[in-house]
Amino acid sequence: MCAAPGSWSQVLSRALWARSGQAEATGEQDAEVKIVAVDLQPMAPIPGVSCLQGDITLRETAEGIANHFGGGKADLVVCDGAPDVTGLHDMDEYI
Ligand SMILES: C[S@@+](CC[C@H](N)C(=O)[O-])C[C@H]1O[C@@H](n2cnc3c(N)ncnc32)[C@H](O)[C@@H]1O
Repeated sequence: MCAAPGSWSQVLSRALWARSGQAEATGEQDAEVKIVAVDLQPMAPIPGVSCLQGDITLRETAEGIANHFGGGKADLVVCDGAPDVTGLHDMDEYI
């Protein structure tokens, strides 16, 4: 959640897909990896990640995320939500 521009997603993709490859090699069954990255801002494509543009406070966005998991639950949610700032601290705190 709040994933743009996408560095956390890149790290998660590399880590989880690498682990998935190891699981396939050893015959384990939990190799399925689904990563959904959501942000208000558009994101450039990231290998192994489904990017969704939307506001995490809206129900339709939550439903869009849930659809990616086909009725199942996510094992992990990471969120780095932060408002856009102007850099003027008094103004940003007020906003
Ligand atoms: C600090 S950045 C996240 C950086 C990200 N962790 C990464 O690895 O690239 C904060 C993000 O929160 C997003 N954001 C803030 N409010 C949001 C909301 N209501 N819905 C979706 N994204 C939101 C902003 O668009 C911004 O891209």
